[in-house]
This record gives sequence, C-alpha cells and structure tokens, in this order.
Amino acid sequence: MVDAPDLKSVVCKDVRVRVPPWAPSEQIINLYHSDPNRDDDENRWNGATTEGEFAHWRGALKSRNAVEVEHILHTHHQHGNLNCSYEHDWNDLRWQKGANLIMNHSSCKDVVVEIGSGSHATVASLVLNKSKIKCYIVCDLVPVLLLAYYNISKNYKTHYVTPGDSLETLIEHNECIMLPHHMASKLYGLNRSVYYNSYSFSEMSNIEIQEYMDIIATTNSRLISENYMTGNGRCHLCNVKYRALEHYIPTQLKIISKNRPTTPAGAGSEVIIAQG
Ligand SMILES: C[S@@+](CC[C@H](N)C(=O)[O-])C[C@H]1O[C@@H](n2cnc3c(N)ncnc32)[C@H](O)[C@@H]1O
Repeated sequence: MVDAPDLKSVVCKDVRVRVPPWAPSEQIINLYHSDPNRDDDENRWNGATTEGEFAHWRGALKSRNAVEVEHILHTHHQHGNLNCSYEHDWNDLRWQKGANLIMNHSSCKDVVVEIGSGSHATVASLVLNKSKIKCYIVCDLVPVLLLAYYNISKNYKTHYVTPGDSLETLIEHNECIMLPHHMASKLYGLNRSVYYNSYSFSEMSNIEIQEYMDIIATTNSRLISENYMTGNGRCHLCNVKYRALEHYIPTQLKIISKNRPTTPAGAGSEVIIAQG
C-alpha cells in the first residue's frame, strides 16, 4: 500500500495477459455444486435471495441447466437485484470514484481485497484495467461471486478459490482471485493489503463485520469503506436499522479520514479510511 513508496525498487509483474474466451457454464455449475456452503446466503435478509432473479439464478445452478445458466450469464447485468446495482443513477461515477480511491492508496506491490463487489465487479475491472497492482481479490457470497468470476475472467487471468488453495501462491500467478466469503479466514495469511468495501458491510451480520475488521487489523492492512451505516435509514433487504461503522472498527485500526461520498448517496453515507 502507498505510505512511503520506493517506486523505483518495485518490480511489477507484467500481468496484462488476455485469456481466450471460454465456455463457462459447465465450470460455473461445477464450482457451485462442489461448494458445501454455496447457499448459506439463503438464510439472510429474510430470505430476499431466495426470491426473484436470485431464485432464478440459483434454480438454474441447482438443476445444472447449462442453457439457462448460459442465458443468465449473458443477461444478468440487466437485472438490478442480481447485479446489485439497483438502477442507481450515480453508479458509474460512484464506481469510478471507488476505483480512484483504491488506486490512490495502492501500488504495484499491493494486494487489493474487495469485500462484496457485486456480480458486475465494476470497481475490480476499472482497477485491473488501469493499475498495476500485485493482485485483486474479490470476496463475495457464492451466487454473486460466480457471476463476478464470469465477468472478470473474460479479460483477466482469474482463479476461483477452493478449500485446498493457498492465497499466497495464487497471488503470484493470477491477476484476480475470487474468494467465497466463507473462506475469508484465508485472508489472515496476507499482510498489509488494501481492503475496499462499498455498501456491503451494511448487509452483513455483526459477526461477519467483526471478522473482516479483525482480518484487516491483525494483518496491518488499510480499509477504504463507503457505507451508509450511520443514517436513519434501514437496510434495503432486511429492514434492520443501519449501525455506525465506527462501532465495528477495532482500536488497532486508526481512522485516517472520514468524508461524505463525492456522489449522492443515502443519508449517513460515509467514506472511511482506516489503517491497521
Ligand atoms: C449492495 S451490494 C454492493 C455491491 C457493490 N459493492 C456496489 O457498491 O455496487 C452488497 C454486496 O455485498 C455482498 N455481501 C453481503 N454479505 C457479504 C459477506 N458476508 N461477505 C462478502 N460479501 C458480502 C453482496 O453479495 C453484494 O455483492
């Protein structure tokens, strides 16, 4: 991460290797079925991901319907819930601002970890396209992560993590890594990374937020977080009242800055940067 960079001594990998187009539906179906925790999001948010487009996607995966999976892979960006964009007018600018923040806080020796990219993983694409970071890791719930995997692996060398994998080895050989959220403890093995999160802590349980905070703090990493945790609003999925993110930030993480987002956002939205 950029604090006292000695850029001349840093050797960047030449990572702009294009992978050829691939037939992804079979692989995505297999990844889904080989993961025993693939559906643990079904119990969240009063079952919101068991309905509508989420249910359709999960149904296609569960029934191994390769034609339907292929169809959803090609069309999922049109559906606001499934791609987590909720037709927000400012999304493009918001994602660009997020990517700029990450790029301003990282260099080519850094691993960037995004917690909850959404299926579009736009911020990941923007950073991978412009910046020579060491590796970008996306950590998300399985049904969303599989779509992000499809989108990112079209253009970047990407590995989807399974239980036996070592992140330390994978980051040497890949531009992007897809990490199912239930394997987040693997992140304890990476020191001084840059963590980015936009509007996903606000969807998590206390325990999950605390685990991510503990990973960030104990690995001396940096957190860049845009969330609406302090407003009077409620989670759009579970109707739980937002909680101030600061309540979750452990004392080892020092808040460097706290600002309103540069694009219009819900009441109480804040961009917090903290350092472990
Ligand atoms: C509202 S979307 C935000 C997507 C994107 N960051 C954006 O700003 O457009 C919330 C994201 O958090 C993810 N998420 C929820 N719980 C998570 C968890 N425990 N670990 C990782 N990601 C999680 C969701 O699957 C989704 O991708």
